Amino acid sequence: MGWFTKMLTSSIGKKLVMALTGLFLCSFLLVHLYGNSNLLGDPANAKESFDGFSKFMSTFPPIRVLEIGLALGFLLHILQGTILYFQNKQARPIGYAKMPGNETSSLFSRTMIWSGALVLFFLIVHVDTFFVDVRLAQGHEASMYDAVKSAFENPAYAGFYLFSLLLLAFHLNHGFQSAFQSLGLNHKKYTPLIKGLGLAYSILVPLGFAAMPIYFIILKYYPCCGGK
Ligand code: HEM
Repeated sequence: MGWFTKMLTSSIGKKLVMALTGLFLCSFLLVHLYGNSNLLGDPANAKESFDGFSKFMSTFPPIRVLEIGLALGFLLHILQGTILYFQNKQARPIGYAKMPGNETSSLFSRTMIWSGALVLFFLIVHVDTFFVDVRLAQGHEASMYDAVKSAFENPAYAGFYLFSLLLLAFHLNHGFQSAFQSLGLNHKKYTPLIKGLGLAYSILVPLGFAAMPIYFIILKYYPCCGGK
């Protein structure tokens, strides 16, 4: 076990943990987005399919086990990201931004800790709104569709959600391609492809999540489209 801890705490090991947990979280976002897509469409059908999906996710034992992995993934990513940030700061007190020859470091890469911290704040509010207040407090029979609908119909909550997605897009814009570099997957031919894929992922995934609050706000103010 000693070699394992040693590997994880070495500088390469830390980057590896960051990249693997980051890509794991990226894959989780895709599954989550697929689940959320059940919210769209004819409200009566959407309520049935979203509530069914949500109940399945919260009661099927293998998913419960995966959830523990997800929580650990988040924890490792956040811990390691914070440690790396302070270590880099100590090693380089002037900071990349002000150093000459720093043309390659983008605003996105320099602000990973801040976009990450704000995404973390969003995650805490998100878990509190849907998991603690609904699933834990009301049990498996509670309608998650109704909970999401009432949260997103509140313009303040919807605005906060959309703003957080913008920060997630910032985080993913650099994160996606950076993870491949950390894994050593650097190739003249494939790196531009990975960068393009990262850009597409960082725009399309947050846009996909943004569709839901926008949809519920439109339904609230224009119930003609099936909102009532
Ligand atoms: C759904 C949520 C998240 C996803 C999908 C995600 C994804 C990623 C990815 C793919 C990377 C690149 C890893 C690498 O360079 O090898 C990364 C880096 C980073 N993430 Fe996240 N992340 C998320 C949430 C967070 C949170 C909540 C924090 C909290 C502080 C955070 C902090 C960081 C930091 C500091 C880095 C840069 C580490 C370095 O110096 O290389 N992330 N993230």
